[in-house]
Amino acid sequence: MDANTEIGRVAIVGTGLIGSSWAACFLAHGLDVVATDPAPGTEDKLRQDVEAAWIALTKIGLAQGAPTSRLRFTADLKEAVADADMVQENAPEREALKIKLFAEIDSILPPPAILVSSTSGIPMSRIQSECKHPERCVTGHPFNPPHLIPLVEVVGGAKTSAETIERAMRFYTAMGKRALHIRKEVVGHVANRLQAALYREIAYLIDQGVVSVADADAAVCMGPGLRWALMGPNLIYHLGGGLGGIHHFLEHFTGSMTAYWADLGSPDLASPELQKKIVDGVLEEIDGRSFEELSQERDALIMGLLELLSHRGKTKPVAASEHIADDS
Ligand SMILES: NC(=O)c1ccc[n+]([C@@H]2O[C@H](COP(=O)([O-])OP(=O)(O)OC[C@H]3O[C@@H](n4cnc5c(N)ncnc54)[C@H](O)[C@@H]3O)[C@@H](O)[C@H]2O)c1
Repeated sequence: MDANTEIGRVAIVGTGLIGSSWAACFLAHGLDVVATDPAPGTEDKLRQDVEAAWIALTKIGLAQGAPTSRLRFTADLKEAVADADMVQENAPEREALKIKLFAEIDSILPPPAILVSSTSGIPMSRIQSECKHPERCVTGHPFNPPHLIPLVEVVGGAKTSAETIERAMRFYTAMGKRALHIRKEVVGHVANRLQAALYREIAYLIDQGVVSVADADAAVCMGPGLRWALMGPNLIYHLGGGLGGIHHFLEHFTGSMTAYWADLGSPDLASPELQKKIVDGVLEEIDGRSFEELSQERDALIMGLLELLSHRGKTKPVAASEHIADDS
């Protein structure tokens, strides 16, 4: 039990891509995890996924030994959540399903346990709408894969208590996450809206034949994406303003920025032609690499980047005199 969060046992409801990664994250932080999923064969898949995540978690020094001793699986939802201090729900992104599931868990799980949804964008006010204890329901939206990516968006619904939000923030912080409190409910929270805004333009440019799928990816990864991982768009634009900083940047570039905004596209992502272009382009870009190969490559690169970022602020600034010495 973590003294700061009073959470020692977590129930994972839904053990697909996100649920299994959360399970690995919580196990690596020494919590007891009980997982449940109604689909047949999910226990074996969950254990394989947790073992796979364990390799990365061991490398970054979080995990020791085998993950199995503190991981329990049961197909019975009631049994899974009955003794939990916190539930992390990761069922499919369907509003009616989540409303019903939350109401069911809420009727089994005694307060003060908290009930958290990984929902990518369904407002908590709707998910908690049929709960008897809506005040202990909150969104804790991770980024894939949650066992490696630090960001978690914490969002309350209309009936969520300030105490629940605070407990969720403390819990994710204790799990090594960068928890952000999103102050107003908006569809898609914040980070998914940002991704959606960028992807809207990517799909538009692909649709218009301006750029190929692989080149659109390169335009992000080899350019702005490199900087965004380090500082974020506001600080990057501060540097883009030169010595005049963000003030000069806004003075100088507001005209062109608003002209770009006026020209941005609204593609029909549901169109079969556009979907075929994107699917064909992605298959060409991955060039036969399997899902596992790509996931492992992504995870290794994320770990390298996180290691690099952990030195942020620790590097001694290079004195001007050292630059001069280098030039000579
Ligand atoms: N995939 C992502 O990148 C991502 C990122 C952040 C958040 N999320 C959110 O996490 C949640 C899960 O997404 P996913 O990608 O893991 O989906 P997934 O399809 O991989 O997993 C969903 C799991 O839920 C199970 N399930 C179905 N009905 C259920 C029920 N009634 N009770 C409990 N479990 C049930 C399924 O058997 C499946 O194992 C969604 O709300 C999604 O929006 C997804």
